[in-house]
Amino acid sequence: MAFSKAQWPRRLRSQEWYSGTSRDAIYHRGWLKNQGYPHDLFDGRPVIGILNTWSDLTPCNGHLREIAEKVKAGIWEAGGFPVEVPVFSASENTYRPTAMMFRNLAAMAVEEAMRGQPIDGAVLLVGCDKTTPSLLMGAASTDIPSIVVTGGPMLNGWFRGERVGSGTALWQMSEAIKAGEMTPDEFLEAEQAMSRSSGSCNTMGTASTMASMAEALGMALSGNAAIPAVDARRRVMAQLSGRRIVEMVKDDLKPSDVMTRAAFENAIRTNGAIGGSTNAVVHLLALAGRVGLDVTLEDWDRLGRDVPTIVNLMPSGKYLMEEFFYAGGLPVVLRSLLEGGKLHGDALTVSGRTMAEEVAEAKNWNEDVIRPVDKALTAQGGIAVLKGNLAPDGAVLKPSAASEHLMVHRGRAVVFEDIDDYKARINDEALEIDETSIMVMKNCGPRGYPGMAEVGNMGLPPKVLRKGIKDMIRISDARMSGTAYGTVILHTSPEAAVGGPLAIVQTGDFIEVDVPNRRLHLDVPDAEIAERLAQWTPLPDQPQSGYARLYLDHVQGADTGADFDFLVGCRGNEVPRESH
Ligand code: FES
Repeated sequence: MAFSKAQWPRRLRSQEWYSGTSRDAIYHRGWLKNQGYPHDLFDGRPVIGILNTWSDLTPCNGHLREIAEKVKAGIWEAGGFPVEVPVFSASENTYRPTAMMFRNLAAMAVEEAMRGQPIDGAVLLVGCDKTTPSLLMGAASTDIPSIVVTGGPMLNGWFRGERVGSGTALWQMSEAIKAGEMTPDEFLEAEQAMSRSSGSCNTMGTASTMASMAEALGMALSGNAAIPAVDARRRVMAQLSGRRIVEMVKDDLKPSDVMTRAAFENAIRTNGAIGGSTNAVVHLLALAGRVGLDVTLEDWDRLGRDVPTIVNLMPSGKYLMEEFFYAGGLPVVLRSLLEGGKLHGDALTVSGRTMAEEVAEAKNWNEDVIRPVDKALTAQGGIAVLKGNLAPDGAVLKPSAASEHLMVHRGRAVVFEDIDDYKARINDEALEIDETSIMVMKNCGPRGYPGMAEVGNMGLPPKVLRKGIKDMIRISDARMSGTAYGTVILHTSPEAAVGGPLAIVQTGDFIEVDVPNRRLHLDVPDAEIAERLAQWTPLPDQPQSGYARLYLDHVQGADTGADFDFLVGCRGNEVPRESH
C-alpha cells in the first residue's frame, strides 16, 4: 500500500520529533538517517515501535527478532515506518530472586520508552510469563494504540512415548525422584525432551494463559494465542498484526477502547474455561488498575464460579498447546462462552471488529482437547477466592488443578517460616507430618520474598510421597507456576511480611478449608489471635538502596495486583518537552 498523507486524519505524535526544518527536527531525523532511511519516510506516516522482549537470556522469546522481521514487513506494506525497540525482558526461568519482582520495572520502562520516543503505535512482542503483562501494563498507562503478538508455545515435548509438559513434568519428575520412582539419569534424559523448539511453555501455564488473556481482552488478533512458535502461521500472524497496527493508528484505536470492563470480564471467564494460571489474577488486577478500572478479587470469584473448564491441557488435563492449536485454539473456547451467554460479544477487539464477529465461525476439530460443555473437565472452573480470619483480604485456589477430596478439610498446620525453612526441613524423616496435615509457608508474598516467588506448590515430604499420596493442602502468600497443580492456596492477603494473620500461624494449630463456601479459617480463639498479632515483629527490612528498595517501598498487596502504588492509572502520551 503506497503511503499518502491524505490517509491520516490528524498530525501524529512522531511529527513532534520529525516534521519541519528546525534544529531539533534535523537533530532527530538526521541521526536516525545514519541507518539509511530515505527522507520521505519522515513525511507524516506513522512510526510503529516494535517493542521486542527478545533476549538470549529469555529463551522463551529467543526467536522474537525473526518474528519482528515479519511484523516489520506488515508495517511497511500498510504504509507505516517500523522501528524495532528492545525493552526490558524478565525471563521466568532465569531472573532471581523472581521475574515477578521485575514485572513493574519492565512495565515502567516500557511506558517511558513509548511516551519518551516518537512512537505512534506499538506492537508488543512478548511470550515468557512476565513479558506479556508488563508490556500490556506499560501500553495501558500511555494509551498509545497497541497490539500484542506473542511468540507462541514450544512444540510438544515427548519422553518415552509420553507428552512432556513444560514445568508440569518438572514438578512430577522431581516428586517421582523423591518417591524413588525415577532416577537422576532418567531425569537428565527427560530434560533433553522437554524443550524441543523455540517458544514459550507448552502447557496452559502462565505464558499460554497470558497469551490467551491478551486475545480474550481483544488486544491480539483472533487466533494468536495458540499458534506454535515454529509454525509458519505464527509468522503470518506477525505480518498481519504489523499491517493492522498501522490501521489502528489511523483509526486512533487505543488500549482504553479495547480494555474495557466488558473485556476484563471476558478474560476472567476465559481463564476459567481454559483452566488458566492463578498468575492471571495478579496480572489482570494490575492491568485493570492501569486503565482505571475497579476489577477486584470478588469479580474473579463471581465471574469464574459457573464457568466449566473445557480445555483439556496440562496442568489441569492431558494435552499441550500444540494440540490446542490443531483443535481450533482460543476462538473455539470464546465461541463456546458466547453461546453459553458468558461472553460480552459486543466487546471491541484490535481488529476493529467485535468479539462475537471474530469467533462466529470458529470450529472445534477435536472434542477431547476442547470439550463440549456437557463433557467439561471441571463443571466449576475459574478461580476460587477464599476469605476468613486467615485471609481477610482473600486467597486464591484453582479448583481445576486441585483434588476433589480436599475441597472441604480440617487439618493440623505444619508451619515453615519461609522458603529456606521449608527446604531445610521438608525431607527430614522426623518431621511430624502426614497427608491430613496442612502445609503452611510464610514470608513469600510481594514484600516477604521479595517478589512473590512461585514457591506456593511446595513439594510433599518424601515419607508421604512414598505412600503414593500425590496431593496435600498447602497455604502460603506465594504464587505458583501456571504449570503447577495441586490443592494449593495462594496469594494469602495481607501477606505475612506486613503482619497478616498468616504470620502468626503455629505448627499444631488447626485450619479449616471449605472451598464450596469460600472459607479459610484458623481455628484459634480470637483473643489468642489478637495476642499473637500484638507480639508479632516484622522481619528486618532489607536492602536499603537500589531497585529493591523502590520495590519494597511501593509494592502493593497481591489482592490488588502487586503493582507499585505510584504506577496505578493511565498517564497518557503527551509529548515530553524538548531537552536541548
Ligand atoms: Fe518462559 Fe515458561 S519459562 S514461558
